[in-house]
Amino acid sequence: MIPSDPKKVTAICFANIDVPKMHTLEMARQQGAYQFLPTVLNTFSSEHIVSEMKISGLRGRGGAGFPTGLKWSFVPKNTGKPTYLLCNADEGEPGTFKDRDLMRFDPHLLIEGMIMAGFALGVKDAYIYIRGEFIHEAKRLNDAISEAYAANLLGDNILGSSYSMHLTVHRGAGAYICGEETALIESLEGRPGRPRFKPPFPAVEGFFRCPTVVNNVETLATVPAILEHGGEWHKAIGTPNNAGMKIFSVSGNVKKAGNYEVPLGTTMRSLIEDYAGGLQNGSVPKVIIPGGSSTPWLLAEHYDVPLTYDDLASAGSMLGSGAVIIIDETADLIALTRRLAHFYAHESCGQCTPCREGTGWLERILTRIESGQGKQEDIRTLEDAAKHMAGRTICALADGAAAPILSLLEHFPELVEQAIAEKTS
Ligand SMILES: Cc1cc2nc3c(=O)[nH]c(=O)nc-3n(C[C@H](O)[C@H](O)[C@H](O)COP(=O)(O)O)c2cc1C
Ligand code: SF4
Repeated sequence: MIPSDPKKVTAICFANIDVPKMHTLEMARQQGAYQFLPTVLNTFSSEHIVSEMKISGLRGRGGAGFPTGLKWSFVPKNTGKPTYLLCNADEGEPGTFKDRDLMRFDPHLLIEGMIMAGFALGVKDAYIYIRGEFIHEAKRLNDAISEAYAANLLGDNILGSSYSMHLTVHRGAGAYICGEETALIESLEGRPGRPRFKPPFPAVEGFFRCPTVVNNVETLATVPAILEHGGEWHKAIGTPNNAGMKIFSVSGNVKKAGNYEVPLGTTMRSLIEDYAGGLQNGSVPKVIIPGGSSTPWLLAEHYDVPLTYDDLASAGSMLGSGAVIIIDETADLIALTRRLAHFYAHESCGQCTPCREGTGWLERILTRIESGQGKQEDIRTLEDAAKHMAGRTICALADGAAAPILSLLEHFPELVEQAIAEKTS
């Protein structure tokens, strides 16, 4: 149970994560799952729910941080078309592994959040698009969905109400780009996962060109607590404009890598030292990648930055998906950047020339520098290629691919120059 006083809240999505057998309906119900659902279905209006979501200040936990209530309010009514709800469970951003734990250990929390969201949006058919590699999590979800159908928590006239919703799990086939919401929609429609131009945005024209809300797993799992305790309750957690708890996936050179749910506004230092056990070598980080591999690097001087969307933007980066990667001075930053470049070159869908060609160039040049064949002019070419990718493509994958290279060149130019000078001599 979540305390009603926001100051005492220590977890929303992970409130019951350690309860044994929490993935079963029996245990989930013992912990309070679905208890508030009849109140929502029988006494709340769609307008009231969207209004509470707006008041709550919840911002999408998938990466962009777009306000959830506002997104829901964009869905047009009375279009004569169905409205769809798609849960984005693709979780392919390197460093991010929070949604996986959520689905594995507490799948009913996500299902309950989707029923409430679906009810607010007038959705009859909802889907969970799950990363193909998450075989066990897909099974957990399907088992939980079967239990929910058997208990009339899904299907026709849920719990005797007038609301009916069907929920289907769809497994992806291993492409990172299918986490981008319009590529996810294309893939779910049965086509290769290639992002669409926006606008139109999915809320207006999404799945099969019908109004569609795409939300991240963590976003949807936060809905039950907000509706039960109220938007103001949620808004009181965190800081102004950055409300609520957030799960951070911490990895890299820390003692205790893992997922930690903390109030937004907690400092990076506190997350690393109080939760993740500090650095393995006891020092401060050399590089902090704060929001997944696509986000610009921060340095030791940013160790006390509060973990909010706004503070990380002011520091020159992004909160992104909340994947904090800590790197100490033992890491080979050129090798690290080259590995990331390989990832993005492999995952580019190839539609846009700057991304398709640029990611390949970045990988080839970094490979050359790392293997001792680099030339002085490579630095300029790397910078030019990366700068010509960011902001010039259909989706943000290209910006994400450019970010580590631009960060390396901005903060550690001497490392690249040294690698070229030493290895070619
Ligand atoms: C290349 C790329 C990959 C993405 N991968 C994911 C992902 O795996 N999971 C996710 O929730 N959002 C991902 N996103 C963000 C989605 O496009 C979208 O903003 C998000 O699902 C919206 O949900 P939210 O409002 O609840 O955050 C990705 C975006 C890009 C550009
Ligand atoms: S930026 Fe890259 S991944 Fe995104 S649509 Fe263009 S080619 Fe595809």
